[in-house]
Amino acid sequence: MTKSVDILIIGSGISALFFAIKTAIKCPNKSILILTKSSKDNNSTRYAQGGIAIVTDFIKDDFTNHIEDTLRAGKYTNKLEVVEMVIKQAPERLEELIRFNIDFDKNPDGTWNLGLEGGHSQHRILHHKDISGLEIERKLLQKLKDFPNISLNENTAVLNLTQNNKNCIGVFYYDRKSKTTDFIFSNVTVLCTGGCGQVFKRTTNPEIATGDGLAMAHKIGAEIQDMHNIQFHPTALYEKNKNQYFLISEAVRGFGAYIINQKGERFVFKHDVRGELATRDIVSEAIETEMKKNGTEFVYLDCRHLDENEFNNHFPTIVAYCNNIGLSPKTDLIPIFPVAHYQCGGIVVDKNSQTTVPRLFAIGECSYTGLHGNNRLASNSLLEALVYAHQCSEYLVDNNEIFTSPKIENHPLPSFQISTNNNNLQATEIRQKLQKIITQGFLNQLPLDFAKERITEIYEETKLLASSNIKNLETVELENMTIVATLIIDAKIQYSKLTSTNFP
Ligand code: FAD
Ligand code: SIN
Repeated sequence: MTKSVDILIIGSGISALFFAIKTAIKCPNKSILILTKSSKDNNSTRYAQGGIAIVTDFIKDDFTNHIEDTLRAGKYTNKLEVVEMVIKQAPERLEELIRFNIDFDKNPDGTWNLGLEGGHSQHRILHHKDISGLEIERKLLQKLKDFPNISLNENTAVLNLTQNNKNCIGVFYYDRKSKTTDFIFSNVTVLCTGGCGQVFKRTTNPEIATGDGLAMAHKIGAEIQDMHNIQFHPTALYEKNKNQYFLISEAVRGFGAYIINQKGERFVFKHDVRGELATRDIVSEAIETEMKKNGTEFVYLDCRHLDENEFNNHFPTIVAYCNNIGLSPKTDLIPIFPVAHYQCGGIVVDKNSQTTVPRLFAIGECSYTGLHGNNRLASNSLLEALVYAHQCSEYLVDNNEIFTSPKIENHPLPSFQISTNNNNLQATEIRQKLQKIITQGFLNQLPLDFAKERITEIYEETKLLASSNIKNLETVELENMTIVATLIIDAKIQYSKLTSTNFP
């Protein structure tokens, strides 16, 4: 592998790919390398169902409505200038997606088929059936091939960020194919490593979502903010003994589905006049309260009254998944429960995605921009990734001097050996223990101080394991997860002094 590049991107979801393409268009002479720890399309992006919130219908809707919905969902703790920038820039980013051949569903009259989701006062979600993320991921990966100055290495896990004189100067990585470790130096390093849902016992996030980027940035002193703001999605499909749960998109409720308890009663209206279309914090809290009251592990989503053809047409993947486990949305109630879904806090960045560490940038779910405040409005996440990828790319184009300084190669850097043994039972046990404690602590099922003590013990156990000769990728991820869990529980302890709700 090349030992030195102009721009190093970590991750291959929407943030990474959109940023790489936009930068390659403007900077054909810059070398851009993408490192991604699994296969290139294994990320949260590919699972996105609902779509992207963008104002396109300026007769029924306008930017002010979308801004207000975003602020209201975030309990007015969002940064107003960021909310305005993202929402007003959205139509331009949509035009680019269309130029990159990404398809969004249209009505027979040629207008956009806009979905509705919780907290939105208007239909404004562009979607591709119920596989919006997969459509974006596939088409961006396809587009990437047009640029000879972009390379992408799969199965390459970044283990550490390296630093010299405060600057981030590259990374230490593990190539899972050749089973070797090495350094790579870069003028600019961009974290696009996604969220941390895997820290929890139940999540919609794939197994790559272990918060690596956040933990690595924290270790080299980057500022982190609002880690207590973990968003739970109210309607994951309840199945026994899973960790990653299949999502039943919020767009299904936008389409008219009800949430009911075991007695067949709709109960969310007791918590908010918007009922099933209240924001996720409210709907998740309502479901948790109902489950606790009735001693159940789930409630139900009721789609039986909805038009079968239209439903099947909009949500073919959800229908197929349900059918596969013996459920039919037309005749059966779908068991659902809230699971960890999205990290609203993260690595603090400015409006150009610059972190507080020089030469280190962060885009997408791993970053904290201030857009979401306490609670993200549905389908604002893909949009945030697009806008900040654009901002970062423009910044680099305008600040070419960042590429002129010589790369600091042959600098003595911290490194360690990685064992190829990835059948590490001890790490798996510790991981499960961590997932259980943080979930119980987060949901206030355990006193926070107790959860904090247990997480500290787990952290010590992990460090011991990682310092032994069986340090492998699993233990590196576990170390990252314990760092993230500590940041979450510390922020939660701080926040609990202000409020007693489970979901911020
Ligand atoms: P990701 O797409 O998660 O990509 C992270 C990448 O980083 C991966 O490629 C991973 O392998 C790589 N990586 C991580 N650590 C390392 C490492 N150490 N070394 C190398 N590579 C690493 N948002 C919406 O706006 N609309 C939706 O409809 C929607 N639906 C969703 C449905 C589901 C089931 C989920 C899970 C999320 C959904 N979201 C939705 C949220 C949205 O999909 C994510 O926030 C967004 O895709 C994150 O993109 P990203 O590029 O930041 O990260
Ligand atoms: C969904 O389709 O419900 C997910 C949307 C999101 O996370 O924004």
